[in-house]
Amino acid sequence: MTTGQSHIGDLTIRGRRGSGDFPPTPPDSEHSDCEKKSSQDLENVDFALPPKSSPPTQVLEQDRKTPDSWLPRDSRLIRLTGVHPFNVEAPLSDLYNEGFLTSPELFYVRNHGPVPQVRDEDIPDWEFTVEGLVERPITIKLKELMSEYEQITCPVTLVCAGNRRKEQNVVRKTKGFSWGAAGVSNALWTGVAMGEVLKRAGLKRGAKYICMEGADKLPNGYYGTSVKLNWALDPNRGMMLAYKQNGEMLRPDHGKPLRCIIPGQIGGRSVKWLKRLIVTAAPSDNWYHIYDNRVLPTTVSPEESANNQAWWMDERYAIYDLSTNSATAYPAHEEQLCLVGAPETYKVQGYAYGGGGRRVTRVEITLDKGKTWKLANIDYPEDKYRDAGPVMLYGGKLDMEWRESSFSWCFWNLNIAVDELKDASDILVRAMDESMNVQPRDMYWSVLGMMNNPWFRVTIAKEG
Ligand code: MTE
Repeated sequence: MTTGQSHIGDLTIRGRRGSGDFPPTPPDSEHSDCEKKSSQDLENVDFALPPKSSPPTQVLEQDRKTPDSWLPRDSRLIRLTGVHPFNVEAPLSDLYNEGFLTSPELFYVRNHGPVPQVRDEDIPDWEFTVEGLVERPITIKLKELMSEYEQITCPVTLVCAGNRRKEQNVVRKTKGFSWGAAGVSNALWTGVAMGEVLKRAGLKRGAKYICMEGADKLPNGYYGTSVKLNWALDPNRGMMLAYKQNGEMLRPDHGKPLRCIIPGQIGGRSVKWLKRLIVTAAPSDNWYHIYDNRVLPTTVSPEESANNQAWWMDERYAIYDLSTNSATAYPAHEEQLCLVGAPETYKVQGYAYGGGGRRVTRVEITLDKGKTWKLANIDYPEDKYRDAGPVMLYGGKLDMEWRESSFSWCFWNLNIAVDELKDASDILVRAMDESMNVQPRDMYWSVLGMMNNPWFRVTIAKEG
C-alpha cells in the first residue's frame, strides 16, 4: 500500500497578513506560535500529504440528463443508486491504495438530491446564519469566516452510517441502498471551530442542540439535522465549519463552498452546503433528522415502521457516534493467489475506525471462525500529525498535540503463512476500541440498515 507519504515542501506556510488574496490570510497574532514552529521544525515533520489529485474535467454520460449535468466526476466511482442522486463509493482497493488521505475525486459521496451550483466568484459572499436561542443572531459571509476567526486544519474520517449495508441487504432487504465497505474516506479539512462561531453569537439559557441546514432543496424540505450543543462547544470533539478539503476549496459534491465536519459521528451529521445554524432546546424537527440515520429496534419491520410514526419520533433511536468497524482490503475481491512459487506468507490488510473520537486499540483475525485469534499490527498515520503540531497547513493551524480524541481511520496488517490460508475457508477480522467496544460476531439488522459492523468476512475459494 502506498501511504501518500510526502515531504514537507508541499506545506503551505502563511506568514503574511492582508495580502489581498482570496482566501484571506489569518491574523498574525493568533498564529505566532505555530509560525515559529513552521520555520524551525519543518524538516522533522513527516506526516502524509494528499495523493496527487486530478479534478475530473469531463461530465460523464450518466449525468447528462440529470440536474447535476454541469458537474464533472470521476468515472472510477461506483454508482449505488442508479444515475441520480449521486451516491458512490470507490472500488475498495483503489480507496485503500490512496492511503491515509483520500483524494476528493475518490472520496465517497452521499447526496440526497441535486448538488447546489455555486460559482467560484460567489464563494466569498456565500452566507450562513446563526440563529435561534442566541443573544445576537448573525449572518456570516464565507470571506468573514476566513478572515475574522482562527483557521484550523485537521484530518478527519467521514463514514456513511450505511457503510457495509450490502451485507444486511443480502440477509433481509432494508430500506437503504447497498454500500460496500468503501462508504468511508479521510481528508484534511480546513475551516473554523464551530464552537467559536456559536460563542460569538452568544448562547441563551435553555440552548441544548445545534441544528444545521443545507442549501439542497429536497422533496421533504432542505437537508438538516442536529447534534448536542455541548459537543459543538467542546474543542476535544473537533466540530468544524470547513471550506477546504486536502488544501483545495471544497468540490461541489462535498459541500462547496461550506460544510460541517462532525468528527467521530456518522457522516449524515456533517451537513454540506451549509446555510443555517439554529440553536434550539430540542433536537432538529427536520424530516431528514427524523426519518434518516436511525437504528430502530430489529423487531420493527419495514411495514411496521411505515405504519407507526412513533418509532421515528423516538430520539433514542437516532445514531450519532460511529460504531467500531473494520474491513479487509487485501485479499481484494476475486484476488487470486497462485500457490506455485508463492511466497511463504501473505499480508492480510485493511482499515479500522472507532466512534466518538475513541481510538481502535486492537484488531484481531481469525481463520477458524472465532475459535482462535491472531493480533494484527496497527498503523496510526494520524499520530504523525499529532506529533508535528502546531504548524500551519493550508492556511489553518494544525494543532492536535493536546487533543485526546482520535478522528481518523487506522490501518492494520498481518502476515499469515500461506499454508494456514490454504486450510482456511475464510478470514474474519474484528476491531476493538479503547472503551472495549468490539465488533460483534452477529449482525444487528434494522429497517434502515445502518451501523453494520459484524466481523468482516473474506471467503477463500480453492481451485484445482
Ligand atoms: N448535507 C446535505 N446538505 N445534503 C446531503 O444529502 N448527506 C449527508 C451528509 N451531509 C447530505 C449532507 C450524508 S448522509 C453523508 S454520509 C455525508 O454528507 C457525506 O458527505 P460526502 O458526500 O462529502 O462524503
